[in-house]
Amino acid sequence: MSADQYELTNSNGMRVQVLGYGGIIQSVEVPDRDGVLANVALGFADVQGYVDHPGPYFGAIIGRFGNRIAKGQFTLDGVTYSVPLNNGPNSLHGGLSGFDRQIWKCREVEGGFALSHVSPDGDQGYPGELSVTVTYTLTGDNALRIDYEAVTDAPTVVNLTNHSYFNLAGAGSGDVYGHLMQIHADGFLPVDAGLIPTGEIASVDGTAMDFREPIAIGARIRSDEEQLLLGGGYDHNWVLRGAGLREVARVVEPVHGRTLTVLTTEPGVQFYSGNFLTGTFAGAGGAAYRQGDGFALETQHFPDSPNHPAFPSTTLLPGSTYTSTTIYHFATTNE
Ligand code: BGC
Repeated sequence: MSADQYELTNSNGMRVQVLGYGGIIQSVEVPDRDGVLANVALGFADVQGYVDHPGPYFGAIIGRFGNRIAKGQFTLDGVTYSVPLNNGPNSLHGGLSGFDRQIWKCREVEGGFALSHVSPDGDQGYPGELSVTVTYTLTGDNALRIDYEAVTDAPTVVNLTNHSYFNLAGAGSGDVYGHLMQIHADGFLPVDAGLIPTGEIASVDGTAMDFREPIAIGARIRSDEEQLLLGGGYDHNWVLRGAGLREVARVVEPVHGRTLTVLTTEPGVQFYSGNFLTGTFAGAGGAAYRQGDGFALETQHFPDSPNHPAFPSTTLLPGSTYTSTTIYHFATTNE
């Protein structure tokens, strides 16, 4: 197994470590309001940890298709394709051997590095040879930028994301229920018992899904609303306002004062509150990860899009380039 590791640093002491295996963001060290550095990304101390515990997809590049495809089936140009069922009756995060388990090639670019991978035609059942490049750069003001690009030689579907879980008080320091979450979305996608979107876009108004104003993640997580019970907490796609690269979410950890602002070009974000972390393995700092110990904001097109023609399209045709950009901007506040 390749143990290649790449690093981004800046003059504020911020340091991001990325593995060639899965393109995994292994650690993100950022200062708090007193300048004290801590790693805020959940993960393992070495590659073997990720190989042994692939289920949470800590920090990984997700592809070819982020989140679920119902019954592992979709139809493109009249042909039905089957992709692996690795999540009950559905396909999750690209299948049994997704991009999170590939060894990516690295080359330096200005301000960072680019990881590339060629997924052969038929890989995990997906059509077309897909050539993917994911570029990580770090700015002087603590913005970690991820640019995704992909081209195909036959019609296919693509939905790439990064699966980092953050805890702005420090990975392994406990739960994130006191973090204040804000998501700039008026709607979200209700799901069924298999966490597949029903197709409806529901208003967040008057529900525990309303993050239009900052509110603690834990404030309503134990509400008996059906959607929270189905997800075991938050595990839903929010339908983001606006288009183009814009701010879509902001998270504040009030004790140490670290903040994370997420910007993306994507139409959706999966806010996942780490519901399936079970406390059965420990992370890099030696502490076991339990339910709610991290939050993920997975910028993406909507789950199961190939089976919902009304959702923004995830089809990629030969001659077109898939592009997507997400920025994780860290800062501090005295709020
Ligand atoms: C999914 C969760 C899943 C998690 C880790 C998230 O993107 O929505 O349901 O458990 O990834 O596998």
